[in-house]
Amino acid sequence: MTDSTRRGFLKQAALGTAAFFAYPDARVLGANDRVRVGIIGVGNRGQDLLEEVLAVPNIQLVAIADVYRRRHDEARKMAPGIVTFDDHRRLLDMKDIDAVIVASPLHTHARHFLDTLAAGKDLYAEKTMTWSIPEADQCLAAATQSGRVVQIGLQWESSGALKDARKWIKDGKIGKVTQVESWMSRNTPHGHGQWVRAIPSDCTAQNVNWSAFLNGRPERPFDPYRLINWRLFWEFSGGNVTENMVHQIAWIMTALELPLPAAAYMSGGVFSEKDGREVPDTIAVTLDFPNDLVVTWQSTFSNRRFGLGEHILGSDGTIEHGWGTSDMVNGEDNEFIRYYPEKVNQPRGEPLTGKTPDQDHMTDFIECVRTRKTPNAPVEVGYRSAIASHMANLAYRHGQRITPETARSLPSEF
Ligand SMILES: NC(=O)c1ccc[n+]([C@@H]2O[C@H](COP(=O)([O-])OP(=O)(O)OC[C@H]3O[C@@H](n4cnc5c(N)ncnc54)[C@H](O)[C@@H]3O)[C@@H](O)[C@H]2O)c1
Repeated sequence: MTDSTRRGFLKQAALGTAAFFAYPDARVLGANDRVRVGIIGVGNRGQDLLEEVLAVPNIQLVAIADVYRRRHDEARKMAPGIVTFDDHRRLLDMKDIDAVIVASPLHTHARHFLDTLAAGKDLYAEKTMTWSIPEADQCLAAATQSGRVVQIGLQWESSGALKDARKWIKDGKIGKVTQVESWMSRNTPHGHGQWVRAIPSDCTAQNVNWSAFLNGRPERPFDPYRLINWRLFWEFSGGNVTENMVHQIAWIMTALELPLPAAAYMSGGVFSEKDGREVPDTIAVTLDFPNDLVVTWQSTFSNRRFGLGEHILGSDGTIEHGWGTSDMVNGEDNEFIRYYPEKVNQPRGEPLTGKTPDQDHMTDFIECVRTRKTPNAPVEVGYRSAIASHMANLAYRHGQRITPETARSLPSEF
Protein backbone atom coordinates (compact mmCIF):
# COMPACT_ATOMS: atom_id res chain seq x y z
CA MET A 1 0.00 0.00 0.00
CA THR A 2 1.42 3.40 -0.91
CA ASP A 3 1.27 6.29 1.57
CA SER A 4 -1.58 7.90 -0.28
CA THR A 5 -3.74 4.76 -0.54
CA ARG A 6 -3.03 4.03 3.14
CA ARG A 7 -4.24 7.51 4.04
CA GLY A 8 -7.34 6.91 1.89
CA PHE A 9 -7.91 3.59 3.68
CA LEU A 10 -7.55 5.16 7.14
CA LYS A 11 -9.94 7.93 6.15
CA GLN A 12 -12.40 5.27 5.05
CA ALA A 13 -11.95 3.20 8.23
CA ALA A 14 -12.50 6.29 10.39
CA LEU A 15 -15.83 6.85 8.65
CA GLY A 16 -16.79 3.26 9.43
CA THR A 17 -18.11 2.68 5.91
CA ALA A 18 -18.39 -0.84 4.56
CA ALA A 19 -17.16 -0.34 1.03
CA PHE A 20 -13.45 0.30 0.53
CA PHE A 21 -12.59 2.95 -1.96
CA ALA A 22 -9.28 4.78 -1.70
CA TYR A 23 -9.60 8.35 -2.90
CA PRO A 24 -6.19 9.55 -4.04
CA ASP A 25 -4.70 12.46 -2.15
CA ALA A 26 -4.43 15.58 -4.25
CA ARG A 27 -1.68 18.20 -4.44
CA VAL A 28 -1.71 20.41 -1.34
CA LEU A 29 -2.02 23.99 -2.55
CA GLY A 30 -0.60 27.01 -0.80
CA ALA A 31 -2.49 30.29 -0.49
CA ASN A 32 -0.62 31.68 -3.53
CA ASP A 33 -0.41 28.59 -5.71
CA ARG A 34 -1.97 28.62 -9.15
CA VAL A 35 -5.08 26.43 -9.35
CA ARG A 36 -5.12 24.31 -12.52
CA VAL A 37 -8.62 23.77 -13.87
CA GLY A 38 -10.39 21.49 -16.37
CA ILE A 39 -13.99 21.73 -17.62
CA ILE A 40 -16.29 18.87 -18.67
CA GLY A 41 -19.18 20.02 -20.90
CA VAL A 42 -18.50 23.36 -22.60
CA GLY A 43 -21.87 24.26 -24.11
CA ASN A 44 -23.91 27.31 -23.06
CA ARG A 45 -23.35 27.15 -19.33
CA GLY A 46 -19.86 25.65 -19.58
CA GLN A 47 -18.76 28.66 -21.67
CA ASP A 48 -20.21 31.07 -19.08
CA LEU A 49 -18.31 29.23 -16.37
CA LEU A 50 -15.17 29.20 -18.52
CA GLU A 51 -15.33 33.01 -18.62
CA GLU A 52 -16.04 33.16 -14.90
CA VAL A 53 -13.10 30.98 -13.96
CA LEU A 54 -10.72 32.85 -16.29
CA ALA A 55 -11.66 36.01 -14.37
CA VAL A 56 -10.49 34.51 -11.05
CA PRO A 57 -6.89 35.55 -10.30
CA ASN A 58 -4.11 32.96 -10.38
CA ILE A 59 -5.87 30.12 -12.13
CA GLN A 60 -4.87 28.25 -15.27
CA LEU A 61 -7.39 26.58 -17.55
CA VAL A 62 -5.54 23.45 -18.71
CA ALA A 63 -8.07 21.33 -20.62
CA ILE A 64 -11.70 20.81 -21.58
CA ALA A 65 -13.68 17.70 -22.50
CA ASP A 66 -16.82 17.77 -24.63
CA VAL A 67 -18.40 15.13 -26.85
CA TYR A 68 -19.04 17.72 -29.61
CA ARG A 69 -16.02 18.98 -31.56
CA ARG A 70 -17.55 22.39 -32.21
CA ARG A 71 -17.21 23.09 -28.47
CA HIS A 72 -13.46 22.39 -28.65
CA ASP A 73 -13.02 25.14 -31.23
CA GLU A 74 -15.23 27.55 -29.28
CA ALA A 75 -13.33 26.89 -26.04
CA ARG A 76 -9.92 27.23 -27.73
CA LYS A 77 -10.97 30.65 -29.04
CA MET A 78 -11.79 31.70 -25.47
CA ALA A 79 -8.69 30.10 -23.93
CA PRO A 80 -5.92 29.49 -26.49
CA GLY A 81 -3.44 26.74 -25.58
CA ILE A 82 -5.84 24.43 -23.77
CA VAL A 83 -5.92 20.69 -24.47
CA THR A 84 -9.24 19.29 -25.75
CA PHE A 85 -10.78 15.80 -25.45
CA ASP A 86 -14.03 14.13 -26.48
CA ASP A 87 -13.84 11.70 -23.52
CA HIS A 88 -13.88 13.17 -20.00
CA ARG A 89 -11.71 10.30 -18.66
CA ARG A 90 -8.72 11.57 -20.64
CA LEU A 91 -9.05 14.95 -18.94
CA LEU A 92 -9.28 13.29 -15.52
CA ASP A 93 -6.11 11.28 -16.29
CA MET A 94 -4.13 14.54 -16.41
CA LYS A 95 -2.03 14.89 -13.30
CA ASP A 96 -1.67 18.65 -13.69
CA ILE A 97 -5.35 19.41 -13.02
CA ASP A 98 -6.43 20.26 -9.45
CA ALA A 99 -10.08 21.17 -9.94
CA VAL A 100 -12.79 20.27 -12.44
CA ILE A 101 -15.92 22.17 -13.44
CA VAL A 102 -18.80 20.01 -14.71
CA ALA A 103 -21.46 21.63 -16.94
CA SER A 104 -22.68 18.63 -18.91
CA PRO A 105 -26.34 17.55 -19.39
CA LEU A 106 -28.16 16.32 -16.28
CA HIS A 107 -28.10 12.59 -17.10
CA THR A 108 -24.27 12.63 -17.14
CA HIS A 109 -23.79 14.63 -13.90
CA ALA A 110 -23.41 11.65 -11.55
CA ARG A 111 -20.84 9.95 -13.77
CA HIS A 112 -18.77 13.12 -14.07
CA PHE A 113 -19.15 13.84 -10.36
CA LEU A 114 -18.03 10.36 -9.24
CA ASP A 115 -15.21 10.06 -11.79
CA THR A 116 -13.83 13.50 -10.84
CA LEU A 117 -13.69 12.63 -7.14
CA ALA A 118 -12.21 9.20 -7.90
CA ALA A 119 -9.45 11.01 -9.81
CA GLY A 120 -8.64 13.01 -6.65
CA LYS A 121 -9.78 16.38 -7.97
CA ASP A 122 -11.91 19.12 -6.42
CA LEU A 123 -15.26 19.67 -8.10
CA TYR A 124 -17.60 22.48 -9.16
CA ALA A 125 -20.71 20.56 -10.30
CA GLU A 126 -23.61 22.25 -12.05
CA LYS A 127 -27.08 21.82 -10.63
CA THR A 128 -29.12 19.73 -10.35
CA MET A 129 -26.57 17.54 -8.59
CA THR A 130 -27.89 14.35 -10.25
CA TRP A 131 -30.61 13.03 -12.56
CA SER A 132 -32.04 10.57 -9.96
CA ILE A 133 -32.33 9.90 -6.22
CA PRO A 134 -30.08 6.79 -6.18
CA GLU A 135 -27.40 8.81 -7.97
CA ALA A 136 -27.76 11.60 -5.39
CA ASP A 137 -27.24 9.07 -2.57
CA GLN A 138 -24.09 7.79 -4.31
CA CYS A 139 -22.67 11.25 -4.94
CA LEU A 140 -23.29 12.42 -1.37
CA ALA A 141 -21.50 9.33 0.00
CA ALA A 142 -18.58 9.76 -2.41
CA ALA A 143 -18.18 13.46 -1.65
CA THR A 144 -18.26 12.82 2.09
CA GLN A 145 -15.65 10.06 1.87
CA SER A 146 -13.37 11.76 -0.63
CA GLY A 147 -12.42 14.81 1.42
CA ARG A 148 -12.49 16.87 -1.79
CA VAL A 149 -13.94 20.37 -2.04
CA VAL A 150 -17.35 20.23 -3.76
CA GLN A 151 -19.28 23.33 -4.81
CA ILE A 152 -22.66 22.87 -6.50
CA GLY A 153 -23.59 25.39 -9.21
CA LEU A 154 -26.40 26.84 -7.10
CA GLN A 155 -25.01 30.37 -7.30
CA TRP A 156 -27.84 31.94 -5.28
CA GLU A 157 -26.24 30.30 -2.25
CA SER A 158 -23.57 33.01 -2.61
CA SER A 159 -26.10 35.83 -2.90
CA GLY A 160 -26.33 38.79 -0.56
CA ALA A 161 -30.13 38.40 -0.55
CA LEU A 162 -29.78 34.99 1.10
CA LYS A 163 -27.53 36.49 3.80
CA ASP A 164 -30.13 39.23 4.41
CA ALA A 165 -32.99 36.70 4.64
CA ARG A 166 -31.02 34.48 7.04
CA LYS A 167 -30.21 37.43 9.28
CA TRP A 168 -33.82 38.65 9.43
CA ILE A 169 -34.99 35.11 10.23
CA LYS A 170 -32.28 34.62 12.92
CA ASP A 171 -33.14 38.03 14.42
CA GLY A 172 -36.71 36.76 15.01
CA LYS A 173 -38.35 39.26 12.66
CA ILE A 174 -40.43 36.65 10.83
CA GLY A 175 -41.96 34.54 13.63
CA LYS A 176 -43.47 31.19 12.77
CA VAL A 177 -43.35 30.43 9.04
CA THR A 178 -46.13 28.12 7.89
CA GLN A 179 -46.04 28.89 4.18
CA VAL A 180 -43.59 29.88 1.44
CA GLU A 181 -44.84 30.65 -2.05
CA SER A 182 -42.43 30.73 -4.97
CA TRP A 183 -42.74 30.94 -8.73
CA MET A 184 -40.77 31.20 -11.94
CA SER A 185 -42.31 32.39 -15.21
CA ARG A 186 -41.07 32.92 -18.76
CA ASN A 187 -42.49 33.50 -22.21
CA THR A 188 -41.40 33.02 -25.84
CA PRO A 189 -42.72 34.18 -29.24
CA HIS A 190 -45.71 32.14 -30.52
CA GLY A 191 -44.55 28.91 -32.18
CA HIS A 192 -41.16 28.87 -30.46
CA GLY A 193 -41.09 26.70 -27.34
CA GLN A 194 -38.91 27.69 -24.38
CA TRP A 195 -35.42 26.11 -24.52
CA VAL A 196 -35.67 24.91 -28.16
CA ARG A 197 -32.28 25.44 -29.82
CA ALA A 198 -31.38 25.31 -33.53
CA ILE A 199 -29.12 22.45 -34.68
CA PRO A 200 -25.77 23.74 -36.05
CA SER A 201 -24.90 22.36 -39.51
CA ASP A 202 -21.71 20.71 -38.16
CA CYS A 203 -23.70 18.69 -35.60
CA THR A 204 -23.10 15.37 -37.37
CA ALA A 205 -22.22 11.84 -36.24
CA GLN A 206 -18.59 12.45 -37.34
CA ASN A 207 -18.23 15.41 -34.98
CA VAL A 208 -19.88 13.91 -31.90
CA ASN A 209 -18.92 11.13 -29.48
CA TRP A 210 -22.55 9.96 -29.43
CA SER A 211 -22.13 6.92 -27.13
CA ALA A 212 -20.45 9.14 -24.49
CA PHE A 213 -23.46 11.47 -24.67
CA LEU A 214 -25.91 8.53 -24.30
CA ASN A 215 -24.02 7.48 -21.15
CA GLY A 216 -25.80 4.14 -20.76
CA ARG A 217 -29.17 5.20 -22.22
CA PRO A 218 -30.45 2.72 -24.87
CA GLU A 219 -28.31 2.77 -28.01
CA ARG A 220 -29.83 4.39 -31.10
CA PRO A 221 -28.62 6.15 -34.26
CA PHE A 222 -27.17 9.64 -33.86
CA ASP A 223 -29.92 12.17 -33.09
CA PRO A 224 -28.72 15.79 -33.18
CA TYR A 225 -32.06 17.12 -31.88
CA ARG A 226 -31.72 15.16 -28.66
CA LEU A 227 -28.06 16.09 -28.26
CA ILE A 228 -28.80 19.82 -28.52
CA ASN A 229 -32.28 19.79 -26.92
CA TRP A 230 -31.67 17.15 -24.20
CA ARG A 231 -33.62 19.35 -21.71
CA LEU A 232 -36.95 18.45 -23.34
CA PHE A 233 -36.72 14.68 -22.67
CA TRP A 234 -37.01 12.77 -19.40
CA GLU A 235 -34.19 10.34 -20.09
CA PHE A 236 -31.70 13.22 -20.06
CA SER A 237 -33.49 15.91 -18.04
CA GLY A 238 -35.80 16.68 -15.15
CA GLY A 239 -37.46 19.60 -16.95
CA ASN A 240 -38.04 22.95 -15.30
CA VAL A 241 -38.04 21.43 -11.82
CA THR A 242 -34.36 20.46 -12.10
CA GLU A 243 -33.51 23.45 -14.30
CA ASN A 244 -35.04 26.20 -12.14
CA MET A 245 -37.07 25.08 -9.13
CA VAL A 246 -33.87 23.56 -7.75
CA HIS A 247 -32.27 27.05 -7.46
CA GLN A 248 -35.24 28.43 -5.56
CA ILE A 249 -35.86 25.41 -3.36
CA ALA A 250 -32.17 25.37 -2.36
CA TRP A 251 -32.43 29.09 -1.48
CA ILE A 252 -35.58 28.52 0.59
CA MET A 253 -34.12 25.43 2.30
CA THR A 254 -30.94 27.31 3.26
CA ALA A 255 -32.82 30.43 4.39
CA LEU A 256 -35.09 28.41 6.69
CA GLU A 257 -32.60 25.57 7.41
CA LEU A 258 -35.03 22.93 6.17
CA PRO A 259 -34.51 19.17 6.13
CA LEU A 260 -35.81 16.97 3.28
CA PRO A 261 -39.50 17.41 2.41
CA ALA A 262 -41.89 14.95 4.08
CA ALA A 263 -44.00 14.73 0.91
CA ALA A 264 -44.27 16.13 -2.63
CA TYR A 265 -47.21 16.68 -5.02
CA MET A 266 -47.04 18.02 -8.57
CA SER A 267 -49.52 18.77 -11.35
CA GLY A 268 -49.16 20.40 -14.76
CA GLY A 269 -48.53 19.40 -18.34
CA VAL A 270 -47.22 20.37 -21.77
CA PHE A 271 -49.62 23.25 -22.39
CA SER A 272 -47.63 26.19 -23.86
CA GLU A 273 -46.15 24.72 -27.07
CA LYS A 274 -46.97 21.13 -28.04
CA ASP A 275 -43.65 20.67 -29.84
CA GLY A 276 -42.90 17.05 -28.98
CA ARG A 277 -41.29 17.76 -25.62
CA GLU A 278 -41.93 15.37 -22.74
CA VAL A 279 -41.23 17.61 -19.75
CA PRO A 280 -44.09 19.86 -18.58
CA ASP A 281 -43.99 23.62 -19.19
CA THR A 282 -46.79 24.42 -16.74
CA ILE A 283 -46.20 23.23 -13.20
CA ALA A 284 -47.58 23.48 -9.66
CA VAL A 285 -45.46 21.79 -6.98
CA THR A 286 -46.39 21.48 -3.31
CA LEU A 287 -43.77 20.32 -0.82
CA ASP A 288 -44.76 19.47 2.78
CA PHE A 289 -41.96 19.94 5.29
CA PRO A 290 -41.86 18.60 8.85
CA ASN A 291 -42.91 21.09 11.55
CA ASP A 292 -45.95 22.70 9.94
CA LEU A 293 -44.59 24.20 6.70
CA VAL A 294 -45.90 24.07 3.13
CA VAL A 295 -43.76 25.36 0.23
CA THR A 296 -45.31 25.86 -3.20
CA TRP A 297 -43.59 26.53 -6.54
CA GLN A 298 -45.41 27.45 -9.74
CA SER A 299 -44.05 27.79 -13.23
CA THR A 300 -45.33 28.77 -16.65
CA PHE A 301 -43.63 29.26 -20.03
CA SER A 302 -46.52 31.37 -21.40
CA ASN A 303 -46.33 34.55 -19.28
CA ARG A 304 -43.40 36.38 -17.70
CA ARG A 305 -45.19 39.21 -15.90
CA PHE A 306 -44.09 38.15 -12.42
CA GLY A 307 -40.57 36.93 -13.28
CA LEU A 308 -39.42 34.79 -10.43
CA GLY A 309 -39.49 35.13 -6.69
CA GLU A 310 -40.24 33.83 -3.25
CA HIS A 311 -42.49 35.07 -0.43
CA ILE A 312 -41.64 33.78 3.03
CA LEU A 313 -44.84 34.25 5.01
CA GLY A 314 -44.36 34.40 8.79
CA SER A 315 -46.63 35.29 11.71
CA ASP A 316 -44.45 38.34 12.49
CA GLY A 317 -43.25 39.38 9.04
CA THR A 318 -42.86 38.72 5.32
CA ILE A 319 -39.73 38.37 3.21
CA GLU A 320 -40.25 39.26 -0.44
CA HIS A 321 -37.48 38.29 -2.86
CA GLY A 322 -37.84 38.84 -6.58
CA TRP A 323 -36.02 38.89 -9.88
CA GLY A 324 -37.06 39.53 -13.47
CA THR A 325 -40.13 41.64 -14.17
CA SER A 326 -41.41 40.92 -10.71
CA ASP A 327 -40.98 44.27 -9.00
CA MET A 328 -44.56 45.56 -8.88
CA VAL A 329 -43.42 48.78 -7.19
CA ASN A 330 -41.01 50.24 -9.73
CA GLY A 331 -41.35 47.77 -12.64
CA GLU A 332 -37.59 47.18 -12.75
CA ASP A 333 -35.99 43.85 -13.59
CA ASN A 334 -33.41 44.03 -10.80
CA GLU A 335 -33.16 41.58 -7.96
CA PHE A 336 -34.55 42.88 -4.66
CA ILE A 337 -35.18 41.61 -1.15
CA ARG A 338 -37.44 43.33 1.36
CA TYR A 339 -38.87 42.72 4.79
CA TYR A 340 -42.32 43.87 5.92
CA PRO A 341 -43.44 43.52 9.55
CA GLU A 342 -46.84 42.00 10.34
CA LYS A 343 -48.17 44.88 12.41
CA VAL A 344 -50.50 42.58 14.38
CA ASN A 345 -47.45 40.93 16.00
CA GLN A 346 -44.68 43.48 15.32
CA PRO A 347 -46.38 46.84 15.98
CA ARG A 348 -43.08 48.72 16.11
CA GLY A 349 -41.45 46.85 13.20
CA GLU A 350 -40.21 48.84 10.17
CA PRO A 351 -39.88 47.69 6.55
CA LEU A 352 -36.30 46.89 5.49
CA THR A 353 -34.49 46.55 2.16
CA GLY A 354 -31.57 44.09 1.91
CA LYS A 355 -28.32 45.58 0.61
CA THR A 356 -25.71 42.87 1.19
CA PRO A 357 -23.61 42.41 -1.98
CA ASP A 358 -23.36 39.01 -3.70
CA GLN A 359 -20.21 36.93 -3.44
CA ASP A 360 -18.79 35.51 -6.66
CA HIS A 361 -19.69 31.81 -6.57
CA MET A 362 -16.72 30.69 -8.71
CA THR A 363 -14.24 32.77 -6.68
CA ASP A 364 -15.65 31.16 -3.53
CA PHE A 365 -14.97 27.72 -5.07
CA ILE A 366 -11.37 28.51 -6.08
CA GLU A 367 -10.65 30.05 -2.65
CA CYS A 368 -11.95 26.88 -0.99
CA VAL A 369 -9.71 24.76 -3.23
CA ARG A 370 -6.77 26.67 -1.70
CA THR A 371 -8.00 26.91 1.92
CA ARG A 372 -9.93 23.57 2.09
CA LYS A 373 -12.87 25.43 3.64
CA THR A 374 -16.46 24.41 2.85
CA PRO A 375 -17.90 26.37 -0.08
CA ASN A 376 -21.19 28.30 -0.04
CA ALA A 377 -23.14 25.55 -1.88
CA PRO A 378 -21.74 22.33 -0.40
CA VAL A 379 -22.78 18.83 -1.38
CA GLU A 380 -25.46 18.66 1.35
CA VAL A 381 -27.33 21.60 -0.22
CA GLY A 382 -26.95 19.97 -3.64
CA TYR A 383 -28.28 16.75 -2.18
CA ARG A 384 -31.35 18.13 -0.38
CA SER A 385 -32.36 20.31 -3.32
CA ALA A 386 -31.89 17.38 -5.73
CA ILE A 387 -34.02 15.03 -3.60
CA ALA A 388 -36.80 17.64 -3.28
CA SER A 389 -36.75 18.16 -7.07
CA HIS A 390 -36.82 14.43 -7.86
CA MET A 391 -39.65 13.86 -5.37
CA ALA A 392 -41.70 16.50 -7.20
CA ASN A 393 -41.01 15.00 -10.64
CA LEU A 394 -41.84 11.50 -9.38
CA ALA A 395 -45.14 12.83 -7.99
CA TYR A 396 -45.98 14.19 -11.47
CA ARG A 397 -44.86 11.14 -13.40
CA HIS A 398 -46.56 8.61 -11.10
CA GLY A 399 -49.59 10.80 -10.32
CA GLN A 400 -49.27 10.27 -6.58
CA ARG A 401 -48.07 11.77 -3.31
CA ILE A 402 -44.36 11.00 -2.89
CA THR A 403 -42.45 10.66 0.38
CA PRO A 404 -38.68 10.04 0.60
CA GLU A 405 -39.56 6.37 1.25
CA THR A 406 -41.99 5.92 -1.65
CA ALA A 407 -39.54 7.75 -3.92
CA ARG A 408 -36.92 5.10 -3.23
CA SER A 409 -39.35 2.25 -3.87
CA LEU A 410 -40.16 3.47 -7.40
CA PRO A 411 -38.00 2.55 -10.38
CA SER A 412 -35.79 5.29 -11.86
CA GLU A 413 -37.07 5.15 -15.40
CA PHE A 414 -35.98 6.79 -18.61
N1 LIG B 1 -26.38 27.47 -12.59
C1 LIG B 1 -27.05 28.01 -13.59
O1 LIG B 1 -27.57 29.12 -13.50
C2 LIG B 1 -27.19 27.23 -14.88
C3 LIG B 1 -27.64 27.90 -16.03
C4 LIG B 1 -27.77 27.15 -17.21
C5 LIG B 1 -27.47 25.79 -17.21
N2 LIG B 1 -27.05 25.19 -16.06
C6 LIG B 1 -26.75 23.74 -16.04
O2 LIG B 1 -25.60 23.49 -16.83
C7 LIG B 1 -25.69 22.21 -17.44
C8 LIG B 1 -25.48 22.35 -18.95
O3 LIG B 1 -26.50 23.14 -19.52
P1 LIG B 1 -26.28 23.86 -20.94
O4 LIG B 1 -27.42 24.72 -21.20
O5 LIG B 1 -24.91 24.45 -20.98
O6 LIG B 1 -26.35 22.59 -21.93
P2 LIG B 1 -25.62 22.51 -23.33
O7 LIG B 1 -26.28 21.41 -24.07
O8 LIG B 1 -25.53 23.85 -23.97
O9 LIG B 1 -24.12 22.09 -22.93
C9 LIG B 1 -23.78 20.80 -22.50
C10 LIG B 1 -22.47 20.42 -23.17
O10 LIG B 1 -22.07 19.15 -22.68
C11 LIG B 1 -21.61 18.38 -23.78
N3 LIG B 1 -21.74 16.97 -23.42
C12 LIG B 1 -22.81 16.14 -23.55
N4 LIG B 1 -22.52 14.92 -23.06
C13 LIG B 1 -21.25 14.99 -22.60
C14 LIG B 1 -20.37 14.04 -22.02
N5 LIG B 1 -20.77 12.77 -21.76
N6 LIG B 1 -19.11 14.43 -21.72
C15 LIG B 1 -18.69 15.70 -21.98
N7 LIG B 1 -19.48 16.64 -22.53
C16 LIG B 1 -20.74 16.29 -22.83
C17 LIG B 1 -22.45 18.82 -24.96
O11 LIG B 1 -21.83 18.56 -26.20
C18 LIG B 1 -22.60 20.32 -24.68
O12 LIG B 1 -21.57 21.06 -25.29
C19 LIG B 1 -27.06 21.66 -17.09
O13 LIG B 1 -26.93 20.80 -15.99
C20 LIG B 1 -27.85 22.89 -16.68
O14 LIG B 1 -28.85 22.62 -15.74
C21 LIG B 1 -26.90 25.89 -14.91
